[in-house]
Amino acid sequence: MKIVSIVGARPQFIKCAPVSRELRKEHEEILVHTGQHYDHGMSEVFFEELRIPRPDYNLGIGSGTHGRQTGAMLGAIEGVLEIEKPDMVLVYGDTNSTLAGALAAAKLHIPAAHVEAGLRSFDRSMPEEVNRVLTDHASDLLFCPTATAVANLATEGITKGVHLVGDVMVDAMNYNRTIAEERSRILEDVGVEPGDYLVATVHRPSNTDSPENMAAILGALGEADRSVVFPVHPRTRKFLREYGLLAEMPENIRVIEPLGYLDMLRLMAQAEKILTDSGGVQKEAYMLGVPCITLRENTEWVETVEAGWNVLVGAERERIISMIREFAPAGDQFPLFGNGQAAAVIAKIIPSGVTINCPGV
Ligand code: UD1
Ligand code: UDP
Repeated sequence: MKIVSIVGARPQFIKCAPVSRELRKEHEEILVHTGQHYDHGMSEVFFEELRIPRPDYNLGIGSGTHGRQTGAMLGAIEGVLEIEKPDMVLVYGDTNSTLAGALAAAKLHIPAAHVEAGLRSFDRSMPEEVNRVLTDHASDLLFCPTATAVANLATEGITKGVHLVGDVMVDAMNYNRTIAEERSRILEDVGVEPGDYLVATVHRPSNTDSPENMAAILGALGEADRSVVFPVHPRTRKFLREYGLLAEMPENIRVIEPLGYLDMLRLMAQAEKILTDSGGVQKEAYMLGVPCITLRENTEWVETVEAGWNVLVGAERERIISMIREFAPAGDQFPLFGNGQAAAVIAKIIPSGVTINCPGV
């Protein structure tokens, strides 16, 4: 089969690495990079470290408002699909690149497969929630990481083409964890000791686009009695500069550039706690057995909260401070996201789904 895979943003490079490896054993894959992320540290570093095949197309769309960015991707992806005429389009996660890929496929009556289908935060103010819902409704094959995701789809009437396969981020972590431990020197470079620092990442618009929320988060991190390593997403850096908060950074917060995946894995694995508003980082914290404090009011990864390893604190200064001091997971750890074979299962299922929901095509 000929499959066009669409990626564009940092977490999609990480998710596509194991899937691409499995797909190419049995299928022809054409890799399309929309260009949504383009800095070296947000894109190229992942292709190099994870040995992802070079994209066959880089659409170079770049940044923009949601409508302009998604619209430009839609037109450019359509052009690729008209040339390549694939049997299926594969999209990942919940970014504007995901929605553009699924929509371009649906408009051309090409079956679409969605990896990480069925996730819901039930918060339509998140751009990702809109992307998830629309992508799922435009997809023919829906690869769910959790039983909750399968149930969410059923609630919306989507039951055909739904497969519970586990999470491809487990596959990515299993493949790279030892490599990260051997190769990464990030703790030494930053100058922190295992177990004696916190890691923070922030990039959700609900936080970055609010000076009050960013001030509350940084103020709380500044109260921690240990180093906080803070790899800063370019979106966040832009806003911190605009708010004048970069210049006023508390001394214990170590502001660094976005990290490659191997450095990020080692940094997270040795942290005392992780504070984040990232979807992927919440999951990885759980997989690594590190307590997670989530700087959001809701999460699509509810299992991590129910298991007692993740706590939602929003951007409330006092709550963040008290959780940094007190949060201790109550429960034992058990696998929530599958057995690390999701990519292989996806590659096996894909041929069976070519015509699902697309009668006559
Ligand atoms: C996007 C996704 C989000 C995902 C995140 C992963 C959407 C709506 N959002 O958010 O779901 O969690 O990626 O990191 O698709 N920028 C750079 N260099 C880059 C990329 C971005 O400077 O390489 C800056 C630009 O100022 C840009 C801003 O970051 O305007 C936001 O980038 P964008 O891709 O629109 O959204 P993210 O916040 O990265
Ligand atoms: N990540 C990384 N370097 C960083 C921050 C995050 O490699 O500086 C990885 C992280 O380990 C996870 C993925 O990027 O695998 C999560 O992406 P992000 O937080 O950008 O997006 P989200 O998951 O929220 O969509």
